[in-house]
Amino acid sequence: MLVTPQQAVTLLKQGDIVALPTETVYGLAACYDNEQAIAKIFSVKQRPLSNPLIVHISSINWLQQLCIAPPDYLQPLLESCWPGPLTVVLKKSGLVSNQITANQSTVAIRMPNHTVMQQVLNQLNTPLVAPSANRYCQTSPTSAAHVKHGLGDKIAVVDGGNCNIGIESTILDCTESSHTTILRPGMINRQQIETITQLNCHSTAQSKHRVPGQHKIHYAPTKPIYLIDDADQVTNYQQRARCFLLNKINLTTHHNIITMPAKPEQYASKLYQLWHDCDAPDIDIILVEKPPKTDAWAGINDRLNKAARR
Ligand code: TXA
Ligand code: MG
Repeated sequence: MLVTPQQAVTLLKQGDIVALPTETVYGLAACYDNEQAIAKIFSVKQRPLSNPLIVHISSINWLQQLCIAPPDYLQPLLESCWPGPLTVVLKKSGLVSNQITANQSTVAIRMPNHTVMQQVLNQLNTPLVAPSANRYCQTSPTSAAHVKHGLGDKIAVVDGGNCNIGIESTILDCTESSHTTILRPGMINRQQIETITQLNCHSTAQSKHRVPGQHKIHYAPTKPIYLIDDADQVTNYQQRARCFLLNKINLTTHHNIITMPAKPEQYASKLYQLWHDCDAPDIDIILVEKPPKTDAWAGINDRLNKAARR
C-alpha cells in the first residue's frame, strides 16, 4: 500500500512499520525505541532475532547519543561519506536496546542520502531501525514495486523511485582505534576508506566480529544464478538462461543477453533491478560474467558470490 511521507511519519509514531526508500535499497523501518514495532520487522521479514539492525539517523547529534568512545578517524570518515552508503559499527550507548544489536556491545549506524528518508527522519526527530525491506535471504528491493512483490500489499511503502546506489551499504567496524575492518563490502571501498582514515582497512576474513550475510544463500534472486568465466561454460547450461555479460564473453544472438555497464557504480545500480526482472516464467537460470576482482568491484563481487550456486 503506497503512503505519503507525511502518512509514514504518522504510522511510525503510532508504532507501525513502513518501507522507506534510501539511496542503497529500500528499508523496512520502525522507531528505534519501539520494541513492539521492531519485533514486527523481524516477524514480517522472517529474520532470526540474532541478526542485528542498522540504526538510521539524519543528524550527527544522534550519533553522539547512540555510541560511546568514537575513534579519532570517525570525524573525517563521516565528513567524507555521510550522508551516504556507509554504515559504521561503534560501541553502543545505553540508549540502544539489546533487541536492536542482538545482544552485542556494538551498534551499526548510518545516515542515508535520500530526501524522502531524511524528511521522515527529520519530522520524527527519532532514529529509525531499518533492515532491507525483503524476506530473509532474498534480494533487497530497489523500488517500491519490489517491496510490494516481496512483502505484499499490506506493508505501507513510500515510493521514492529507484535506488541509485542499488546495493546495500558498506559496513565498517570502527571499534578499534588502530585500524578499520570491512564487515560487508559496498560501493564505498577499502581504498577510499584507507585514503580518508590514513589507517589500514582490513577485510572481513581478519575480523572477529559477526559478519553479515553468512547464510549459505544470501541476497539470492528466486532463479538460480551461476558465475561464468567464458562462453564455453554457457553450453553447460541447457535451461533457458538470461546472461548478464560485461565485455570478455561473446555469445551468439539467440542467447537472452543483457549487456552490463562497465563501470561498477552503474553496474551496481542496475543489478538487483535486473535480478528482480528475472522473476519471469520464461527464465530458468541467470548466468553472470564474473566482474574484475578490483576494490571498486568488491561490493558487487560479494553479492554475486553469495547469491551464486556452485
Ligand atoms: O544499505 C543498507 O545498509 C540497507 C538500508 C536499508 O540502509 N540496510 C541493510 O540492512 O542492508 P540489513 O539488516 O538488511 O543488513 C544489515 C546488516 C545485517 O546483516 C547485520 O548482521 C549487520 O548489518 N549488522 C547490524 N548491526 C551490526 C553490528 N552491531 N555489528 C556487526 N554487524 C551488524
Ligand atoms: Mg538485508
